[in-house]
Amino acid sequence: MTAKLILGTEIREAILEEITAEVKQIKEKHGVVPGLVTILVGENPASISYVTLKIQTGHRVGFKEVQDSQPETISEADLLALIDKYNKDDSINGILVQLPLPKHIDEKKILNAIDPDKDVDGFHPVNVGRLMIGGAEVKFPPCTPAGIQEMIVRAGVETKGAEVVVVGRSNIVGKPIANMMLQKGKGANSTVTIVHTGTKDLASHCKRADILIVAAGVPGLVKPEWIKPGACVIDVGVNRVGEKISEKTGKKIAILRGDVDFDAAKEIAGSITPVPGGVGPMTITMLMKNTLNSLKFKLGLM
Ligand code: GUN
Repeated sequence: MTAKLILGTEIREAILEEITAEVKQIKEKHGVVPGLVTILVGENPASISYVTLKIQTGHRVGFKEVQDSQPETISEADLLALIDKYNKDDSINGILVQLPLPKHIDEKKILNAIDPDKDVDGFHPVNVGRLMIGGAEVKFPPCTPAGIQEMIVRAGVETKGAEVVVVGRSNIVGKPIANMMLQKGKGANSTVTIVHTGTKDLASHCKRADILIVAAGVPGLVKPEWIKPGACVIDVGVNRVGEKISEKTGKKIAILRGDVDFDAAKEIAGSITPVPGGVGPMTITMLMKNTLNSLKFKLGLM
């Protein structure tokens, strides 16, 4: 059996088209568009490329995009003042501070200073709490878990009563996706197990999974024999295992490998996400959705 591929690149296009249409409608009816500010501190090359892609995607869907680049040397107090400025700016619905921040700045303090109603990353403790409560309380699910859930739903995989096993317990992926999948409602209502580096027998848990979500950051961790035949496998791992020359651009690019042994796993799973082109493209897509929703909350449309 060869698994159905769940392609983030395709799902991204569908969602961005839906967002673009909604932005146009809101602009016509209410005369406003969602505003997103991306704050970049320093010149980390990976951060620059993420931020550039966020801005390009925002422009594509019709947002007001503000890129605020600050020097590596900015003080914590000045960065807090900048966040305060955007908290008070009525034209801004989403504030994103690109991580990681330089060592002299307390990341937690910065994230906690963002107005929870503009926290489109979903990292503020208030939004973590809202996610835990679930249902109508949830405003901004964190982007990668939201993308994972969207992929499972759009692939037509039954989640109600499904055994979901999440490998990894990070605050950004493992804990929130586990929490989202156990809530009542569409695309959830599952029985969830979280496994991690302290788990005794990883394989035995994975073998039970109807939906296996792997966010461990260990290339090839999940072996094909750990996969239940027909299972849905979501691989969140993006591990740089080397470099190659791109055929398209002639430039050096990273060779990426997931946490799952993809070639063997696709012969056993019912559906599976590739790396790259799987979960990766969904994160920025869901950031756009959260920013649109932020404006919709403000306008009373949600
Ligand atoms: N750095 C890498 N990924 C992310 C993300 O999703 N949000 C923020 N704010 N910074 C990041």
